[in-house]
Amino acid sequence: MSANCCCCSNHLNDDRYTRLNQVIAEYKNQPGSLIPVLHKTQQIFGYLPDDVQKLIAEGLNVPLSDVYGVITFYSLFSLEPRGKHTIGICMGTACYVRGASQVLDALKKDLAIEAGQTSGDGVFTLTITRCLGACAMAPVMMIDEDVYGRLTPDKIPDILAKYRQASKNA
Ligand code: FES
Repeated sequence: MSANCCCCSNHLNDDRYTRLNQVIAEYKNQPGSLIPVLHKTQQIFGYLPDDVQKLIAEGLNVPLSDVYGVITFYSLFSLEPRGKHTIGICMGTACYVRGASQVLDALKKDLAIEAGQTSGDGVFTLTITRCLGACAMAPVMMIDEDVYGRLTPDKIPDILAKYRQASKNA
């Protein structure tokens, strides 16, 4: 099967698959191309569904099991649709001893989800991270590229409200 083959008719009208094929063509035959291709593909789709994994495996001529293995090894890759914003709450030692669990509980309660899930309104995906390198500000979380330190559970509702409001206005 050709890398550019698009055998599912649903894909024909979906610009994302065209862009995926362009990414595959750009990186084809380049050593070490799997991770950058997965990264760009996740930017296109928001996550890495099964059919997309197959197209990447065929296009780059790597086993599907390798594609799946890399996706599940790196936490930045996701098999599920992600929210508009990704929250990463640090559970490293410094954050943990300064109350990160209570902050995580506040996030779970506010979002009505568990870690690894996406909120019902599609705005947030909640993840747990290792040390973010900002231990002096523990407990720390990131929302996308924004860093929040010295967190307490009572600060969570206002922080989340800011992103909810922004996503309504977008
Ligand atoms: S342990 Fe959380 S930032 Fe280092």
